[in-house]
Amino acid sequence: MRRLAILVSGRGSNFEAIARNIAAGKLDAEIAIVISNNPEAKALETAATLGIKARCVPSKGVDSDTYAARVRDVLAPLGIDLIVLAGFMRRVGQPLLDAYPQRILNIHPALLPAFPGLHVQQQALDYGVKVSGCTVHFVDSGMDTGPIVAQAAVPVLDDDTAESLAARILAEEHRIYTEAIALVLSGKYRIEGRRVVRTS
Ligand code: GRF
Repeated sequence: MRRLAILVSGRGSNFEAIARNIAAGKLDAEIAIVISNNPEAKALETAATLGIKARCVPSKGVDSDTYAARVRDVLAPLGIDLIVLAGFMRRVGQPLLDAYPQRILNIHPALLPAFPGLHVQQQALDYGVKVSGCTVHFVDSGMDTGPIVAQAAVPVLDDDTAESLAARILAEEHRIYTEAIALVLSGKYRIEGRRVVRTS
């Protein structure tokens, strides 16, 4: 069984969707651990409810490379195949990138390369785009810049608020993250430059 580590900072709805998809037989993997950098994260309660091992590794006052080394050391004995960032609000430092090359995924609530960074549903509204969506990508040392594994588009409606647009995007996040994880765990792809290309 392939083993996932899920890194969270808050609500944890993507984590919960992945856990439920595993339970429903839609993803052949197990969640070996959930790590939160935030002791208050609701995701930690969800993990307890679902009986999934979880741990807080606090990041307050810790630089990103030191933090990444701490997470790497927590994960080292667990035989992790893939790290899944699910609303994890810290940059991933080099020690973790080096330990898991092209083995860290992130989900972002916009169609990259449009609107990297934070508050991106509001950014999409303010810019006036008619379509937005979500992107699953490999994590590299940049901000939301790694090769794209999957994307889904949703319409931006005239009466949308940032909240209503975020909710429409989130429903697609919950669907495509599991699909992207399944593809990566299957190994049936190769990375050509920036392109993630399916094989066989
Ligand atoms: C999602 O919109 C995700 O795309 C972004 O942060 C949000 C996390 O939501 N990176 P949740 O914690 O998974 O509910």
